[in-house]
Amino acid sequence: MKTKSHFLKMKAEQASIVMLTAYDYPTAKLAEAAGVDMILVGDSLGMVVLGYESTIPVTIEDMIHHTNAVKRGAKDTFIVCDMPFMSYHASKEDTMKNAAKMMQQSGADALKVEGAGDVIKTIELLSAAGVPIVAHLGLTPQSVGVLGGYKVQGNDAKAARQLLQDAINCEEAGAIAVVLECVPFQVAQEVTEKVSIPTIGIGAGPHTDGQVLVYHDVVGYGVNRVPKFVKQYAEVDELILPAISQYVSEVKQKAFPEMKHSFTMKEDELQQLYG
Ligand code: KIV
Ligand code: NA
Repeated sequence: MKTKSHFLKMKAEQASIVMLTAYDYPTAKLAEAAGVDMILVGDSLGMVVLGYESTIPVTIEDMIHHTNAVKRGAKDTFIVCDMPFMSYHASKEDTMKNAAKMMQQSGADALKVEGAGDVIKTIELLSAAGVPIVAHLGLTPQSVGVLGGYKVQGNDAKAARQLLQDAINCEEAGAIAVVLECVPFQVAQEVTEKVSIPTIGIGAGPHTDGQVLVYHDVVGYGVNRVPKFVKQYAEVDELILPAISQYVSEVKQKAFPEMKHSFTMKEDELQQLYG
């Protein structure tokens, strides 16, 4: 079982940490086979798999359901699971209960929470209770309504200084790693140098300790427009759409199934059946 120290060692050795999201069994299997270091069952689930407009509607049950599937596909990979919207903001008791449920029922190795401010205290509480926590700073999609859209964060001196302080506070609170989303590369580089936990960037430039991307963006699966920071390594929609279209037309034209796809009952049994 991999733990925090494995990834601290990777940071020390400047070995890039590769994180990819996954939400189901087949994707998890492929991610593990490809050598992904950490799988994130992100609440991006809501948008890329469930078709919601944002991550807001995602529930604890959704996260547990999908993380279980991922765990079955990637038994040997470190799995981080997002705590969904508002599941760690009510009372301390509710937060602890939700985190306990997610750790006990999802198969995740760590939970991820967004933001700083009051969330720092939450990171401290959960870490003290034995829950490995990944922090998430910069663009925090659960707060998109407050941030005013999906846009670059920490891009003025004041915001950058705050972001660095937030990252330091996350580390001091016990976070095992910090995701930096949509921040200028210089700011991500500075944070990476100033904290001793691994930084994992998305839209944060080349100088973080690791990178994370959303699976559907990486393979071009069901996504319309990908953000500037994404590199699309394949276009699987272009394989899937013609395949489904051909299936549709072959059934319509009665070209599928053929006899080779069919089962045959022996003649003597047929005789007994119909005489
Ligand atoms: O939900 C998610 O996929 C994430 C990553 C983009 C970091 O939080
Ligand atoms: Na997320």
